[in-house]
Amino acid sequence: MAGKYGSLVLILVSFVLLQGGVQLVAAALWNVGDANGWTFGVQSWPNNPSFKPFREGDMLVFKYDPAAHNVIVVDDFGFGTCTTHPANATVYNSGSDRITVQRGETNFISGKADDCEKGLKITVFVRP
Ligand SMILES: *[C@@H]1O[C@H](CO)[C@@H](O)[C@H](O)[C@H]1NC(C)=O
Repeated sequence: MAGKYGSLVLILVSFVLLQGGVQLVAAALWNVGDANGWTFGVQSWPNNPSFKPFREGDMLVFKYDPAAHNVIVVDDFGFGTCTTHPANATVYNSGSDRITVQRGETNFISGKADDCEKGLKITVFVRP
């Protein structure tokens, strides 16, 4: 009897651990633009040369020359118009920024010169 329930408990515990395991998988660290870093041509990086399965809690690392570029987290309007929008958008400028992503869509642009117009911008889609 006890053995029977013991097995059931074991199965239930295993099931709970498996479900939880999805969350327990270590967050991934992504170097934006791979070896090139945060620079021109990066816009296709989320999907090329391969689709990047971003998950909530993953970290994006933006590497660039801070004299030339920066990283601003903008909304869709800011992304489309290459402007710092909303006005209180977070600006990163260390040259080696580590940003943890939340679920949903997040837009990043460079706000220096006409970087963004030249394609120094990406949108990432992050799954829970
Ligand atoms: C900007 O301000 C709005 C309104 O106060 C707030 O909800 C939002 O979180 C702020 N955004 C950032 C990136 O601080």
